Amino acid sequence: MSVIRLDNVSYTYRGAETPAVNSVSCEFEAGQMYAIIGPSGSGKSTLLSMLAGLDLPTEGDVLFGEERLRDMDLDRYRREDVAMIFQAFHLFPLMTVLENVCYPMELCGMHPKEAKERARPLLESVGIRQEKHGRFPANLSGGEQQRVAIARSLASGAKTLLADEPTGNLDAANTVNVIRILGQLAHEQGYCVIVVTHDPEVAELADQVYRVKDGALTAS
Ligand SMILES: Nc1ncnc2c1ncn2[C@@H]1O[C@H](COP(=O)(O)OP(=O)(O)OP(=O)(O)O)[C@@H](O)[C@H]1O
Ligand SMILES: [Mg+2]
Repeated sequence: MSVIRLDNVSYTYRGAETPAVNSVSCEFEAGQMYAIIGPSGSGKSTLLSMLAGLDLPTEGDVLFGEERLRDMDLDRYRREDVAMIFQAFHLFPLMTVLENVCYPMELCGMHPKEAKERARPLLESVGIRQEKHGRFPANLSGGEQQRVAIARSLASGAKTLLADEPTGNLDAANTVNVIRILGQLAHEQGYCVIVVTHDPEVAELADQVYRVKDGALTAS
């Protein structure tokens, strides 16, 4: 069964003449990594923001399991069911690496000590060793910062990871490293991973590629 399904979804920005996303239907399953590719302005980020519950479609529905997002508590959905990873990492600059990863767990009411105990193995699992846990994000490389952001996205407990150009600021070696980690999360731990990317090499590592053009989507 699909984790997330788009049922004839369109999105028209206020005042725009044409829809940014146009009658898109598709499904995303657990255990798979998807790439969404397409030219600049084709509607990829708009699509992702609807999957993330940041915007509701102006027509059609996004379904999480069997439930329509428009009937759900979207704050809870965004906090617990999906996690976002961004091109610019978006780590909290004044928190250490460890505190960044603890943050989503503490937000859900976990005791800080328990959050730390859980955060450390998450960081280790993305290759961030203990000696870097006390650093501030600015004192890490871009690839390391993105891996911390991935660990933080796992900390929320969400099983659906949405990434908008997660490798856009990384060199080729770090790109492959980050995408491998995302692929392993899908294939070995059952996450549903959806990656928006310009990079054909990233798309090549995905199980399924969706192409977006002028707001319309085709599988390839
Ligand atoms: N807040 C907004 N208000 C109005 N129009 C918008 C807004 N955000 C995006 N658009 C328009 O919607 C269309 C799709 O934009 P979107 O950001 O989804 O593209 P994209 O595929 O993510 O592009 P890129 O690869 O450059 O990130 C574009 O025509 C864009 O100009
Ligand atoms: Mg975009």
